[in-house]
Amino acid sequence: MERYAKLAAEALSQVLPSPIRTTDLEIPPDPKLGDFAFPCFKLSKELRKAPPQIAQQLVADLKARNAVPTGLSVSTAGPYVNFTVPADEAIRSLLKDILAGDGIGHYGELPPKHRGAWTLEYSSPNVAKPLNIYHLRPTALGAALDRVGRYRGFDVISINHLGDWGKQYGMLAAAFRLFNKTVDSDLGMMDLVDMYVKVNAAAEADPSIEAEARNAFLKLEQGDPDVTALWRKCVDISIREFERIYRRLGVRFDYIWGESFYKDQLEPLLQKLRSGGLLIESEGAWVVPVTNREGKEIPPCILQKSDGATIYATRDVAAAIYRYERFHFDRMTYIVGAEQKLHFEQVFGVLRKMGFVWAARCEHIPFGLYRFKDAKMSTRKGNFVTLEEVLGQAKDRVATLMRERAKDPEKPDSAGATPNEDTTEAVAVGAVVFHDLHTDPVRDVEFDLERVVDFEGETGPYLQYAHTRCLSILRKARETGQLSTVEVKFSDRAPNVLKATEEVALIKTLGQFPLHLERTLSFAKASQLAHYLIDVTKAFGAFYRECRVLGEAPEVTSARLMLVEATRRVLARGLQLLGIPLPERM
Ligand code: ARG
Repeated sequence: MERYAKLAAEALSQVLPSPIRTTDLEIPPDPKLGDFAFPCFKLSKELRKAPPQIAQQLVADLKARNAVPTGLSVSTAGPYVNFTVPADEAIRSLLKDILAGDGIGHYGELPPKHRGAWTLEYSSPNVAKPLNIYHLRPTALGAALDRVGRYRGFDVISINHLGDWGKQYGMLAAAFRLFNKTVDSDLGMMDLVDMYVKVNAAAEADPSIEAEARNAFLKLEQGDPDVTALWRKCVDISIREFERIYRRLGVRFDYIWGESFYKDQLEPLLQKLRSGGLLIESEGAWVVPVTNREGKEIPPCILQKSDGATIYATRDVAAAIYRYERFHFDRMTYIVGAEQKLHFEQVFGVLRKMGFVWAARCEHIPFGLYRFKDAKMSTRKGNFVTLEEVLGQAKDRVATLMRERAKDPEKPDSAGATPNEDTTEAVAVGAVVFHDLHTDPVRDVEFDLERVVDFEGETGPYLQYAHTRCLSILRKARETGQLSTVEVKFSDRAPNVLKATEEVALIKTLGQFPLHLERTLSFAKASQLAHYLIDVTKAFGAFYRECRVLGEAPEVTSARLMLVEATRRVLARGLQLLGIPLPERM
């Protein structure tokens, strides 16, 4: 499909005022309308015509220029120009591509690292606090974009920008003294949380603690070995804890460079800004006046406080410059909560003011919050629900559901499935991660455990189950001798056999996989891919209801097994890219 979409985009580019890309094409909700469509709304102003008229004109121009790509038919439906790939051609080429290669194949994969460097920053939690459910948003989305980016040929450089610097670490140092702890004390993450809460309470009663903390952070900034050792200990405890959860989620980073990583670059940065006349004094602090991308003035970016201390934004400016010097990225994406929108506008504003043209390549992808239906969780102080807790609850729920299903005579595929550790973990992680990813990043996630873990509906378990369904059909085909090869191979006879509407629709849906990967990357939204995979399972469901696979005439069974295998591959690859584990049975 991608090849056809490219042809369509190229053809349209010849007759449009300015060229378009495949991501400018839409995929019509009803395949009867076509396989992809170009919406003409946006051109209406420029061309001073109604969108349906533009659509007709474009088709006429394409035909007049003999520019309709061979193998595609073109038509209009209201404001859209629709392109359709003929069924036979789609079956032959798409099925062949999907079934090429072993295992789950490489459909939609592009050669590695030929598409430019993409610096992708995600997760970025603060040290000395456990990962809470809210951190799943930047972690799951970032990791999905990371995988899809690599699969599609980008040279992805992933960075976890830990919050590991600032005066709160001075406070922790004070806590060590106050509670008689040392670098050798046996401490875990929860101990750090506890110490931090208690030292803050103590500081309210005793102002000298505040001064001690400030002094400790000053020492830390100056590289004092004792304070540095305490700080290091807190960072190490935290990273160990984060890694444990990242492993469960299948997340890894090329670089864990916390804010502290840039500490020696801050003074030179301030120097440079000062000598360039960009840093001005304002109410005792040092700021750079900035505008946003549209040139509108926004609050100035504070880079140095009146006491001389640098701040979060100073480290972000230094980090961006460092990353550019090191990677010469073509795109740098920050996946960070929507509440930091202004912060990133300010940071990008400073970079622009410093004359870095690459500032235009930086983008902030914001995301919304978590909201709980369960009152108990939503009223908990500070919304402090750890990711681990949520995964634990999801696992319990999965085990209960699986026990019920194993007894249900209407679920023969689940009969042999026992809720063992591996499966409950895989389904729970799949459920929680999918639920997060399928929500548009800018929206809040409504979390209701029962709905998240449901085996039916638009959920992770439903997709995982559809995948095990394909596996079980293929298994049965082998057991009954209806499939004699280890792998399902493409055969040229398939187009003659696969004619049913549901068969053609399924193949075309599967063929759209690469287009959805591309959209996922260009909009930085994993929800694109998540929703597409739901469409795949729906198309598969319709096919499976209408077309019997096993026990038909051998050439029919064999052609339909190709469809089952193609579905399995696209689902497996898509889920894997999203970070959803694939249980064998459930
Ligand atoms: N640690 C920050 C927080 O938890 C997020 C860091 C985002 N990344 C950045 N480059 N500022 O709020």
